[in-house]
Amino acid sequence: MKTRTQFFTTPIYYVNAKPHLGHAYTTIAADVATRFKKMDGHETYFLTGTDEHGDKIVQAAQKQNQTPKEYANKISRLFQDLWPRLSVRNDQFIRTTDPAHIKVVTDLLTKIHEKGDIYFSSYEGQYCFGCERFYQDRELVDGKCPDHGVAPSTIKESNYFFKMGQYQDWLIDHIKTHPGFIHPGQYETELLSFLKEPLEDLCISRPKSRLTWGITLPFDHDYVTYVWFDALVNYISALGYPDGALFKKFWPCARHFVAKDIIKPHGIYWPIMLKAAGIDIYAGLNVHGFWNVSGSKMSKTIGNVTDPVAVTDQYGVDAFRYFLMREMVFGLDANFTEDVLVSRINADLANDLGNLFSRVLSMNFRYFKGVVPTMLPAADLSLETDACTAIHSFQKAMTGYEFHKAITAVWQFISCMNKYIDTHEPWQLAKDADKKPLLSAVICNLLEGLRTVACLIYPVMPDTSKKMLPALGIKIPENGFFSLDRIHIWGQIQPGTCLAKPQILFPRIDVPRKEASEQENPSGKKKKPPVAAPEHKPEITIEDFAKIDLRTGTILAAEKIAGSDKLLKLQVDTGNHTRQIVAGIGKYYAPENLVEKQVVVVANLKQATLMGEKSQGMVLAAGTKKELILAGFDTQVQPGSPIK
Ligand code: MSP
Repeated sequence: MKTRTQFFTTPIYYVNAKPHLGHAYTTIAADVATRFKKMDGHETYFLTGTDEHGDKIVQAAQKQNQTPKEYANKISRLFQDLWPRLSVRNDQFIRTTDPAHIKVVTDLLTKIHEKGDIYFSSYEGQYCFGCERFYQDRELVDGKCPDHGVAPSTIKESNYFFKMGQYQDWLIDHIKTHPGFIHPGQYETELLSFLKEPLEDLCISRPKSRLTWGITLPFDHDYVTYVWFDALVNYISALGYPDGALFKKFWPCARHFVAKDIIKPHGIYWPIMLKAAGIDIYAGLNVHGFWNVSGSKMSKTIGNVTDPVAVTDQYGVDAFRYFLMREMVFGLDANFTEDVLVSRINADLANDLGNLFSRVLSMNFRYFKGVVPTMLPAADLSLETDACTAIHSFQKAMTGYEFHKAITAVWQFISCMNKYIDTHEPWQLAKDADKKPLLSAVICNLLEGLRTVACLIYPVMPDTSKKMLPALGIKIPENGFFSLDRIHIWGQIQPGTCLAKPQILFPRIDVPRKEASEQENPSGKKKKPPVAAPEHKPEITIEDFAKIDLRTGTILAAEKIAGSDKLLKLQVDTGNHTRQIVAGIGKYYAPENLVEKQVVVVANLKQATLMGEKSQGMVLAAGTKKELILAGFDTQVQPGSPIK
């Protein structure tokens, strides 16, 4: 049988600042995907690295009185050292200053130039030094760069251009005929709508009079290569393009993980560069949203740039990996706060998983002196079907890169096991000698269930999986995991195996309750005491409550209402139809961050007209004047489901 191969990559990170939470997320997501694919029988290759050329790096190095190379060495080392600490197992770490990479970029430029797809021209345009690119007027927001918020400088120079425009129709067709090429779907829509406008040719050079820190153009030594044209090539130079064994084996079965900030270079420049060079197009692009920290964009000025080393030192690597993968719906933005991290650790890890593990092992110790009993066939006591359902849902969600759903599937099974204990009350069975066979069956099923969980959490929490399996009497295969097609086999824990008393997997984190006047914010300043909650309303009956038709809804589109900074117009799918709702959330949510969000809708509220727009219902939210948070759900629900 031919081995299935899979190549995963992360962006190569700029070396102008040290690694933060956002870099950690993408790299952990790619690591989780790689570990899963291995379990699913693929041969994998996982690449990450650093992007070291360009203006940004020169400026950062100057501030430190270092040469660009010295500075790049220092920061690149921080990234290289971080990944093992986060249990990331990349197969290679590439740097764009590696001679082998520089050679491939040079060869590729020569090839595309010889083909006639690169031309020389004089150009005047709006240049943003932060982005290191020219902007067209229509891309600017109020005349400013959308990412940096500063007006670009007008620059006139002669440069080399890559004829991207001529590949526009081909690219549109490629995207449309390759479902899943851009994942999730909302980013495919975004790219296709961008491609409705004519695609400008790409300026791919910078004169050495302005920038020397780059790869010299092979056909004109007065110029260096534009940093993106250099950086994207890392995905094939790392594999030894054109003749390397890795390239032959893993290209084009590649999926690139990136966040939404760099969708254009990856979804437009890169496929066109490959097409122009006659190289197969990569298989797919996985685009995720942004992590905000305590509700704001991470920024040095706010001082909320989250250091993954500090978080993992305090809470542990597996807890951090779990939190990132569980909390973010892949494709949407998510919010990082220490409070939510701690409550997930306490609820999901210490309570649900950790308690189940120690409860079951303690019972085995108490009732069978730690020796695994024999599993008697007792079909009505079997957890096998529930385990198979969990494995199936996990596999389906992971295959679709829906990490949070995969984790939810495992946690549903954990909750099913916790209920199973409460239903079968092993402590009652233990009181009656005649019921010993039933007790054996219950304990054996629970142990097998825990084995299933331990195998499934491997991609997200490899260390925890590694702790749990030996404690359940299972020898871990040399490669560190069980393949998916073996996990469902029930009865792998051998009767007669002696299991030790349980260890604590995740200690609960005590959250000291502080007096309001003592509360401090991260900068050490005293917080104002919280505003008193409003008076409770008079009591109502269940019949009163039943009059309100609460439904789940999925926001399909959102836009500002002209003339109001408060009101947004939402199109919400509530099952059998799409309704328009005007919501006063404009100050707290950007319309583009609302699409695909699931909300609670008051579906039978009398229609109203606000600022000339009809509103058929209301979405629920909680908060204060300063902050408003939409009510939502733990996981995806069918739109239109009644809320009880
Ligand atoms: N060097 C380019 C990428 C070249 S790839 C051929 C670059 N580097 S970067 O250091 O700015 O990294 C951007 C990437 O870091 C994002 O696409 C994402 O993967 C990750 N993140 C940075 N900030 C992030 C968040 N706040 N949230 C989630 N991920 C983010 O762009």
